[in-house]
Amino acid sequence: MTAIFVSATGTDVGKTFVTSGLIRHYRQDERAVDAIKPLVSGFDPATLEASDPGALLTALGRPITLEEAQRISPWRFAAPLSPDMAAAREGRAIDFAAVTEFCRAAIAACRSHLFIEGIGGIMVPLDASHTVLDLITQLRLPLLLVAGTYVGTISHTLTALQVLARRNLDIAAIVVSESQDSAAGLDDTVATIARFSDSIDVVGIPRLTDAASTHPAFARIAQLL
Ligand SMILES: Nc1ncnc2c1ncn2[C@@H]1O[C@H](COP(=O)(O)OP(=O)(O)O)[C@@H](O)[C@H]1O
Ligand SMILES: [Mg+2]
Repeated sequence: MTAIFVSATGTDVGKTFVTSGLIRHYRQDERAVDAIKPLVSGFDPATLEASDPGALLTALGRPITLEEAQRISPWRFAAPLSPDMAAAREGRAIDFAAVTEFCRAAIAACRSHLFIEGIGGIMVPLDASHTVLDLITQLRLPLLLVAGTYVGTISHTLTALQVLARRNLDIAAIVVSESQDSAAGLDDTVATIARFSDSIDVVGIPRLTDAASTHPAFARIAQLL
């Protein structure tokens, strides 16, 4: 069993896209795979298919139902805000220990590859005192750090690496998923990040038009996990 935590330099960078591509790759290879995304904000049950749990369930070949969304994403909030703020809008609060326990139980139950998609970037607050980084630290899983090619991504990525190093977290790979209409090229961004990130593997994924693509980059990433 291999569990991997998928985080990013920010929100809307490509965590779900990369995770879904990897799930498709494993399934094509007839390797068992599962995924959870414990916390989701901006969730509307009326557009379940377009949500992160919907995208992951589609990639997993599971039914797109609220029961399945509850199974992989128990903490769902309507407001498209950081989870602590989105929860507060509903008069709720996130129980950090319960989120950690949920992930631990999923890891323990999984007999295959398990992807755990985080929320936003690596230091998004979950409650008054914990961020996603604290969840990764509790779980001590290898991390897939997703970056983009948007302007600012290199600084965001190198800042994230410093913070992760301070917690002695293991980074399985950095994935640069090409951002829409970005001025910086994919190859240049990959090369620059690689130059500053010692021995960590950096893999680029070009902008793909087909969401269900089996681009060879996914096989390369899978080899690093
Ligand atoms: N390499 C790529 N090619 C095509 N579309 C991409 C790529 N990377 C990300 N996207 C798209 O960008 C949007 C944001 O990505 P997503 O995976 O949802 O981000 P996150 O999960 O980090 O919030 C989605 O519509 C996704 O399909
Ligand atoms: Mg996502």
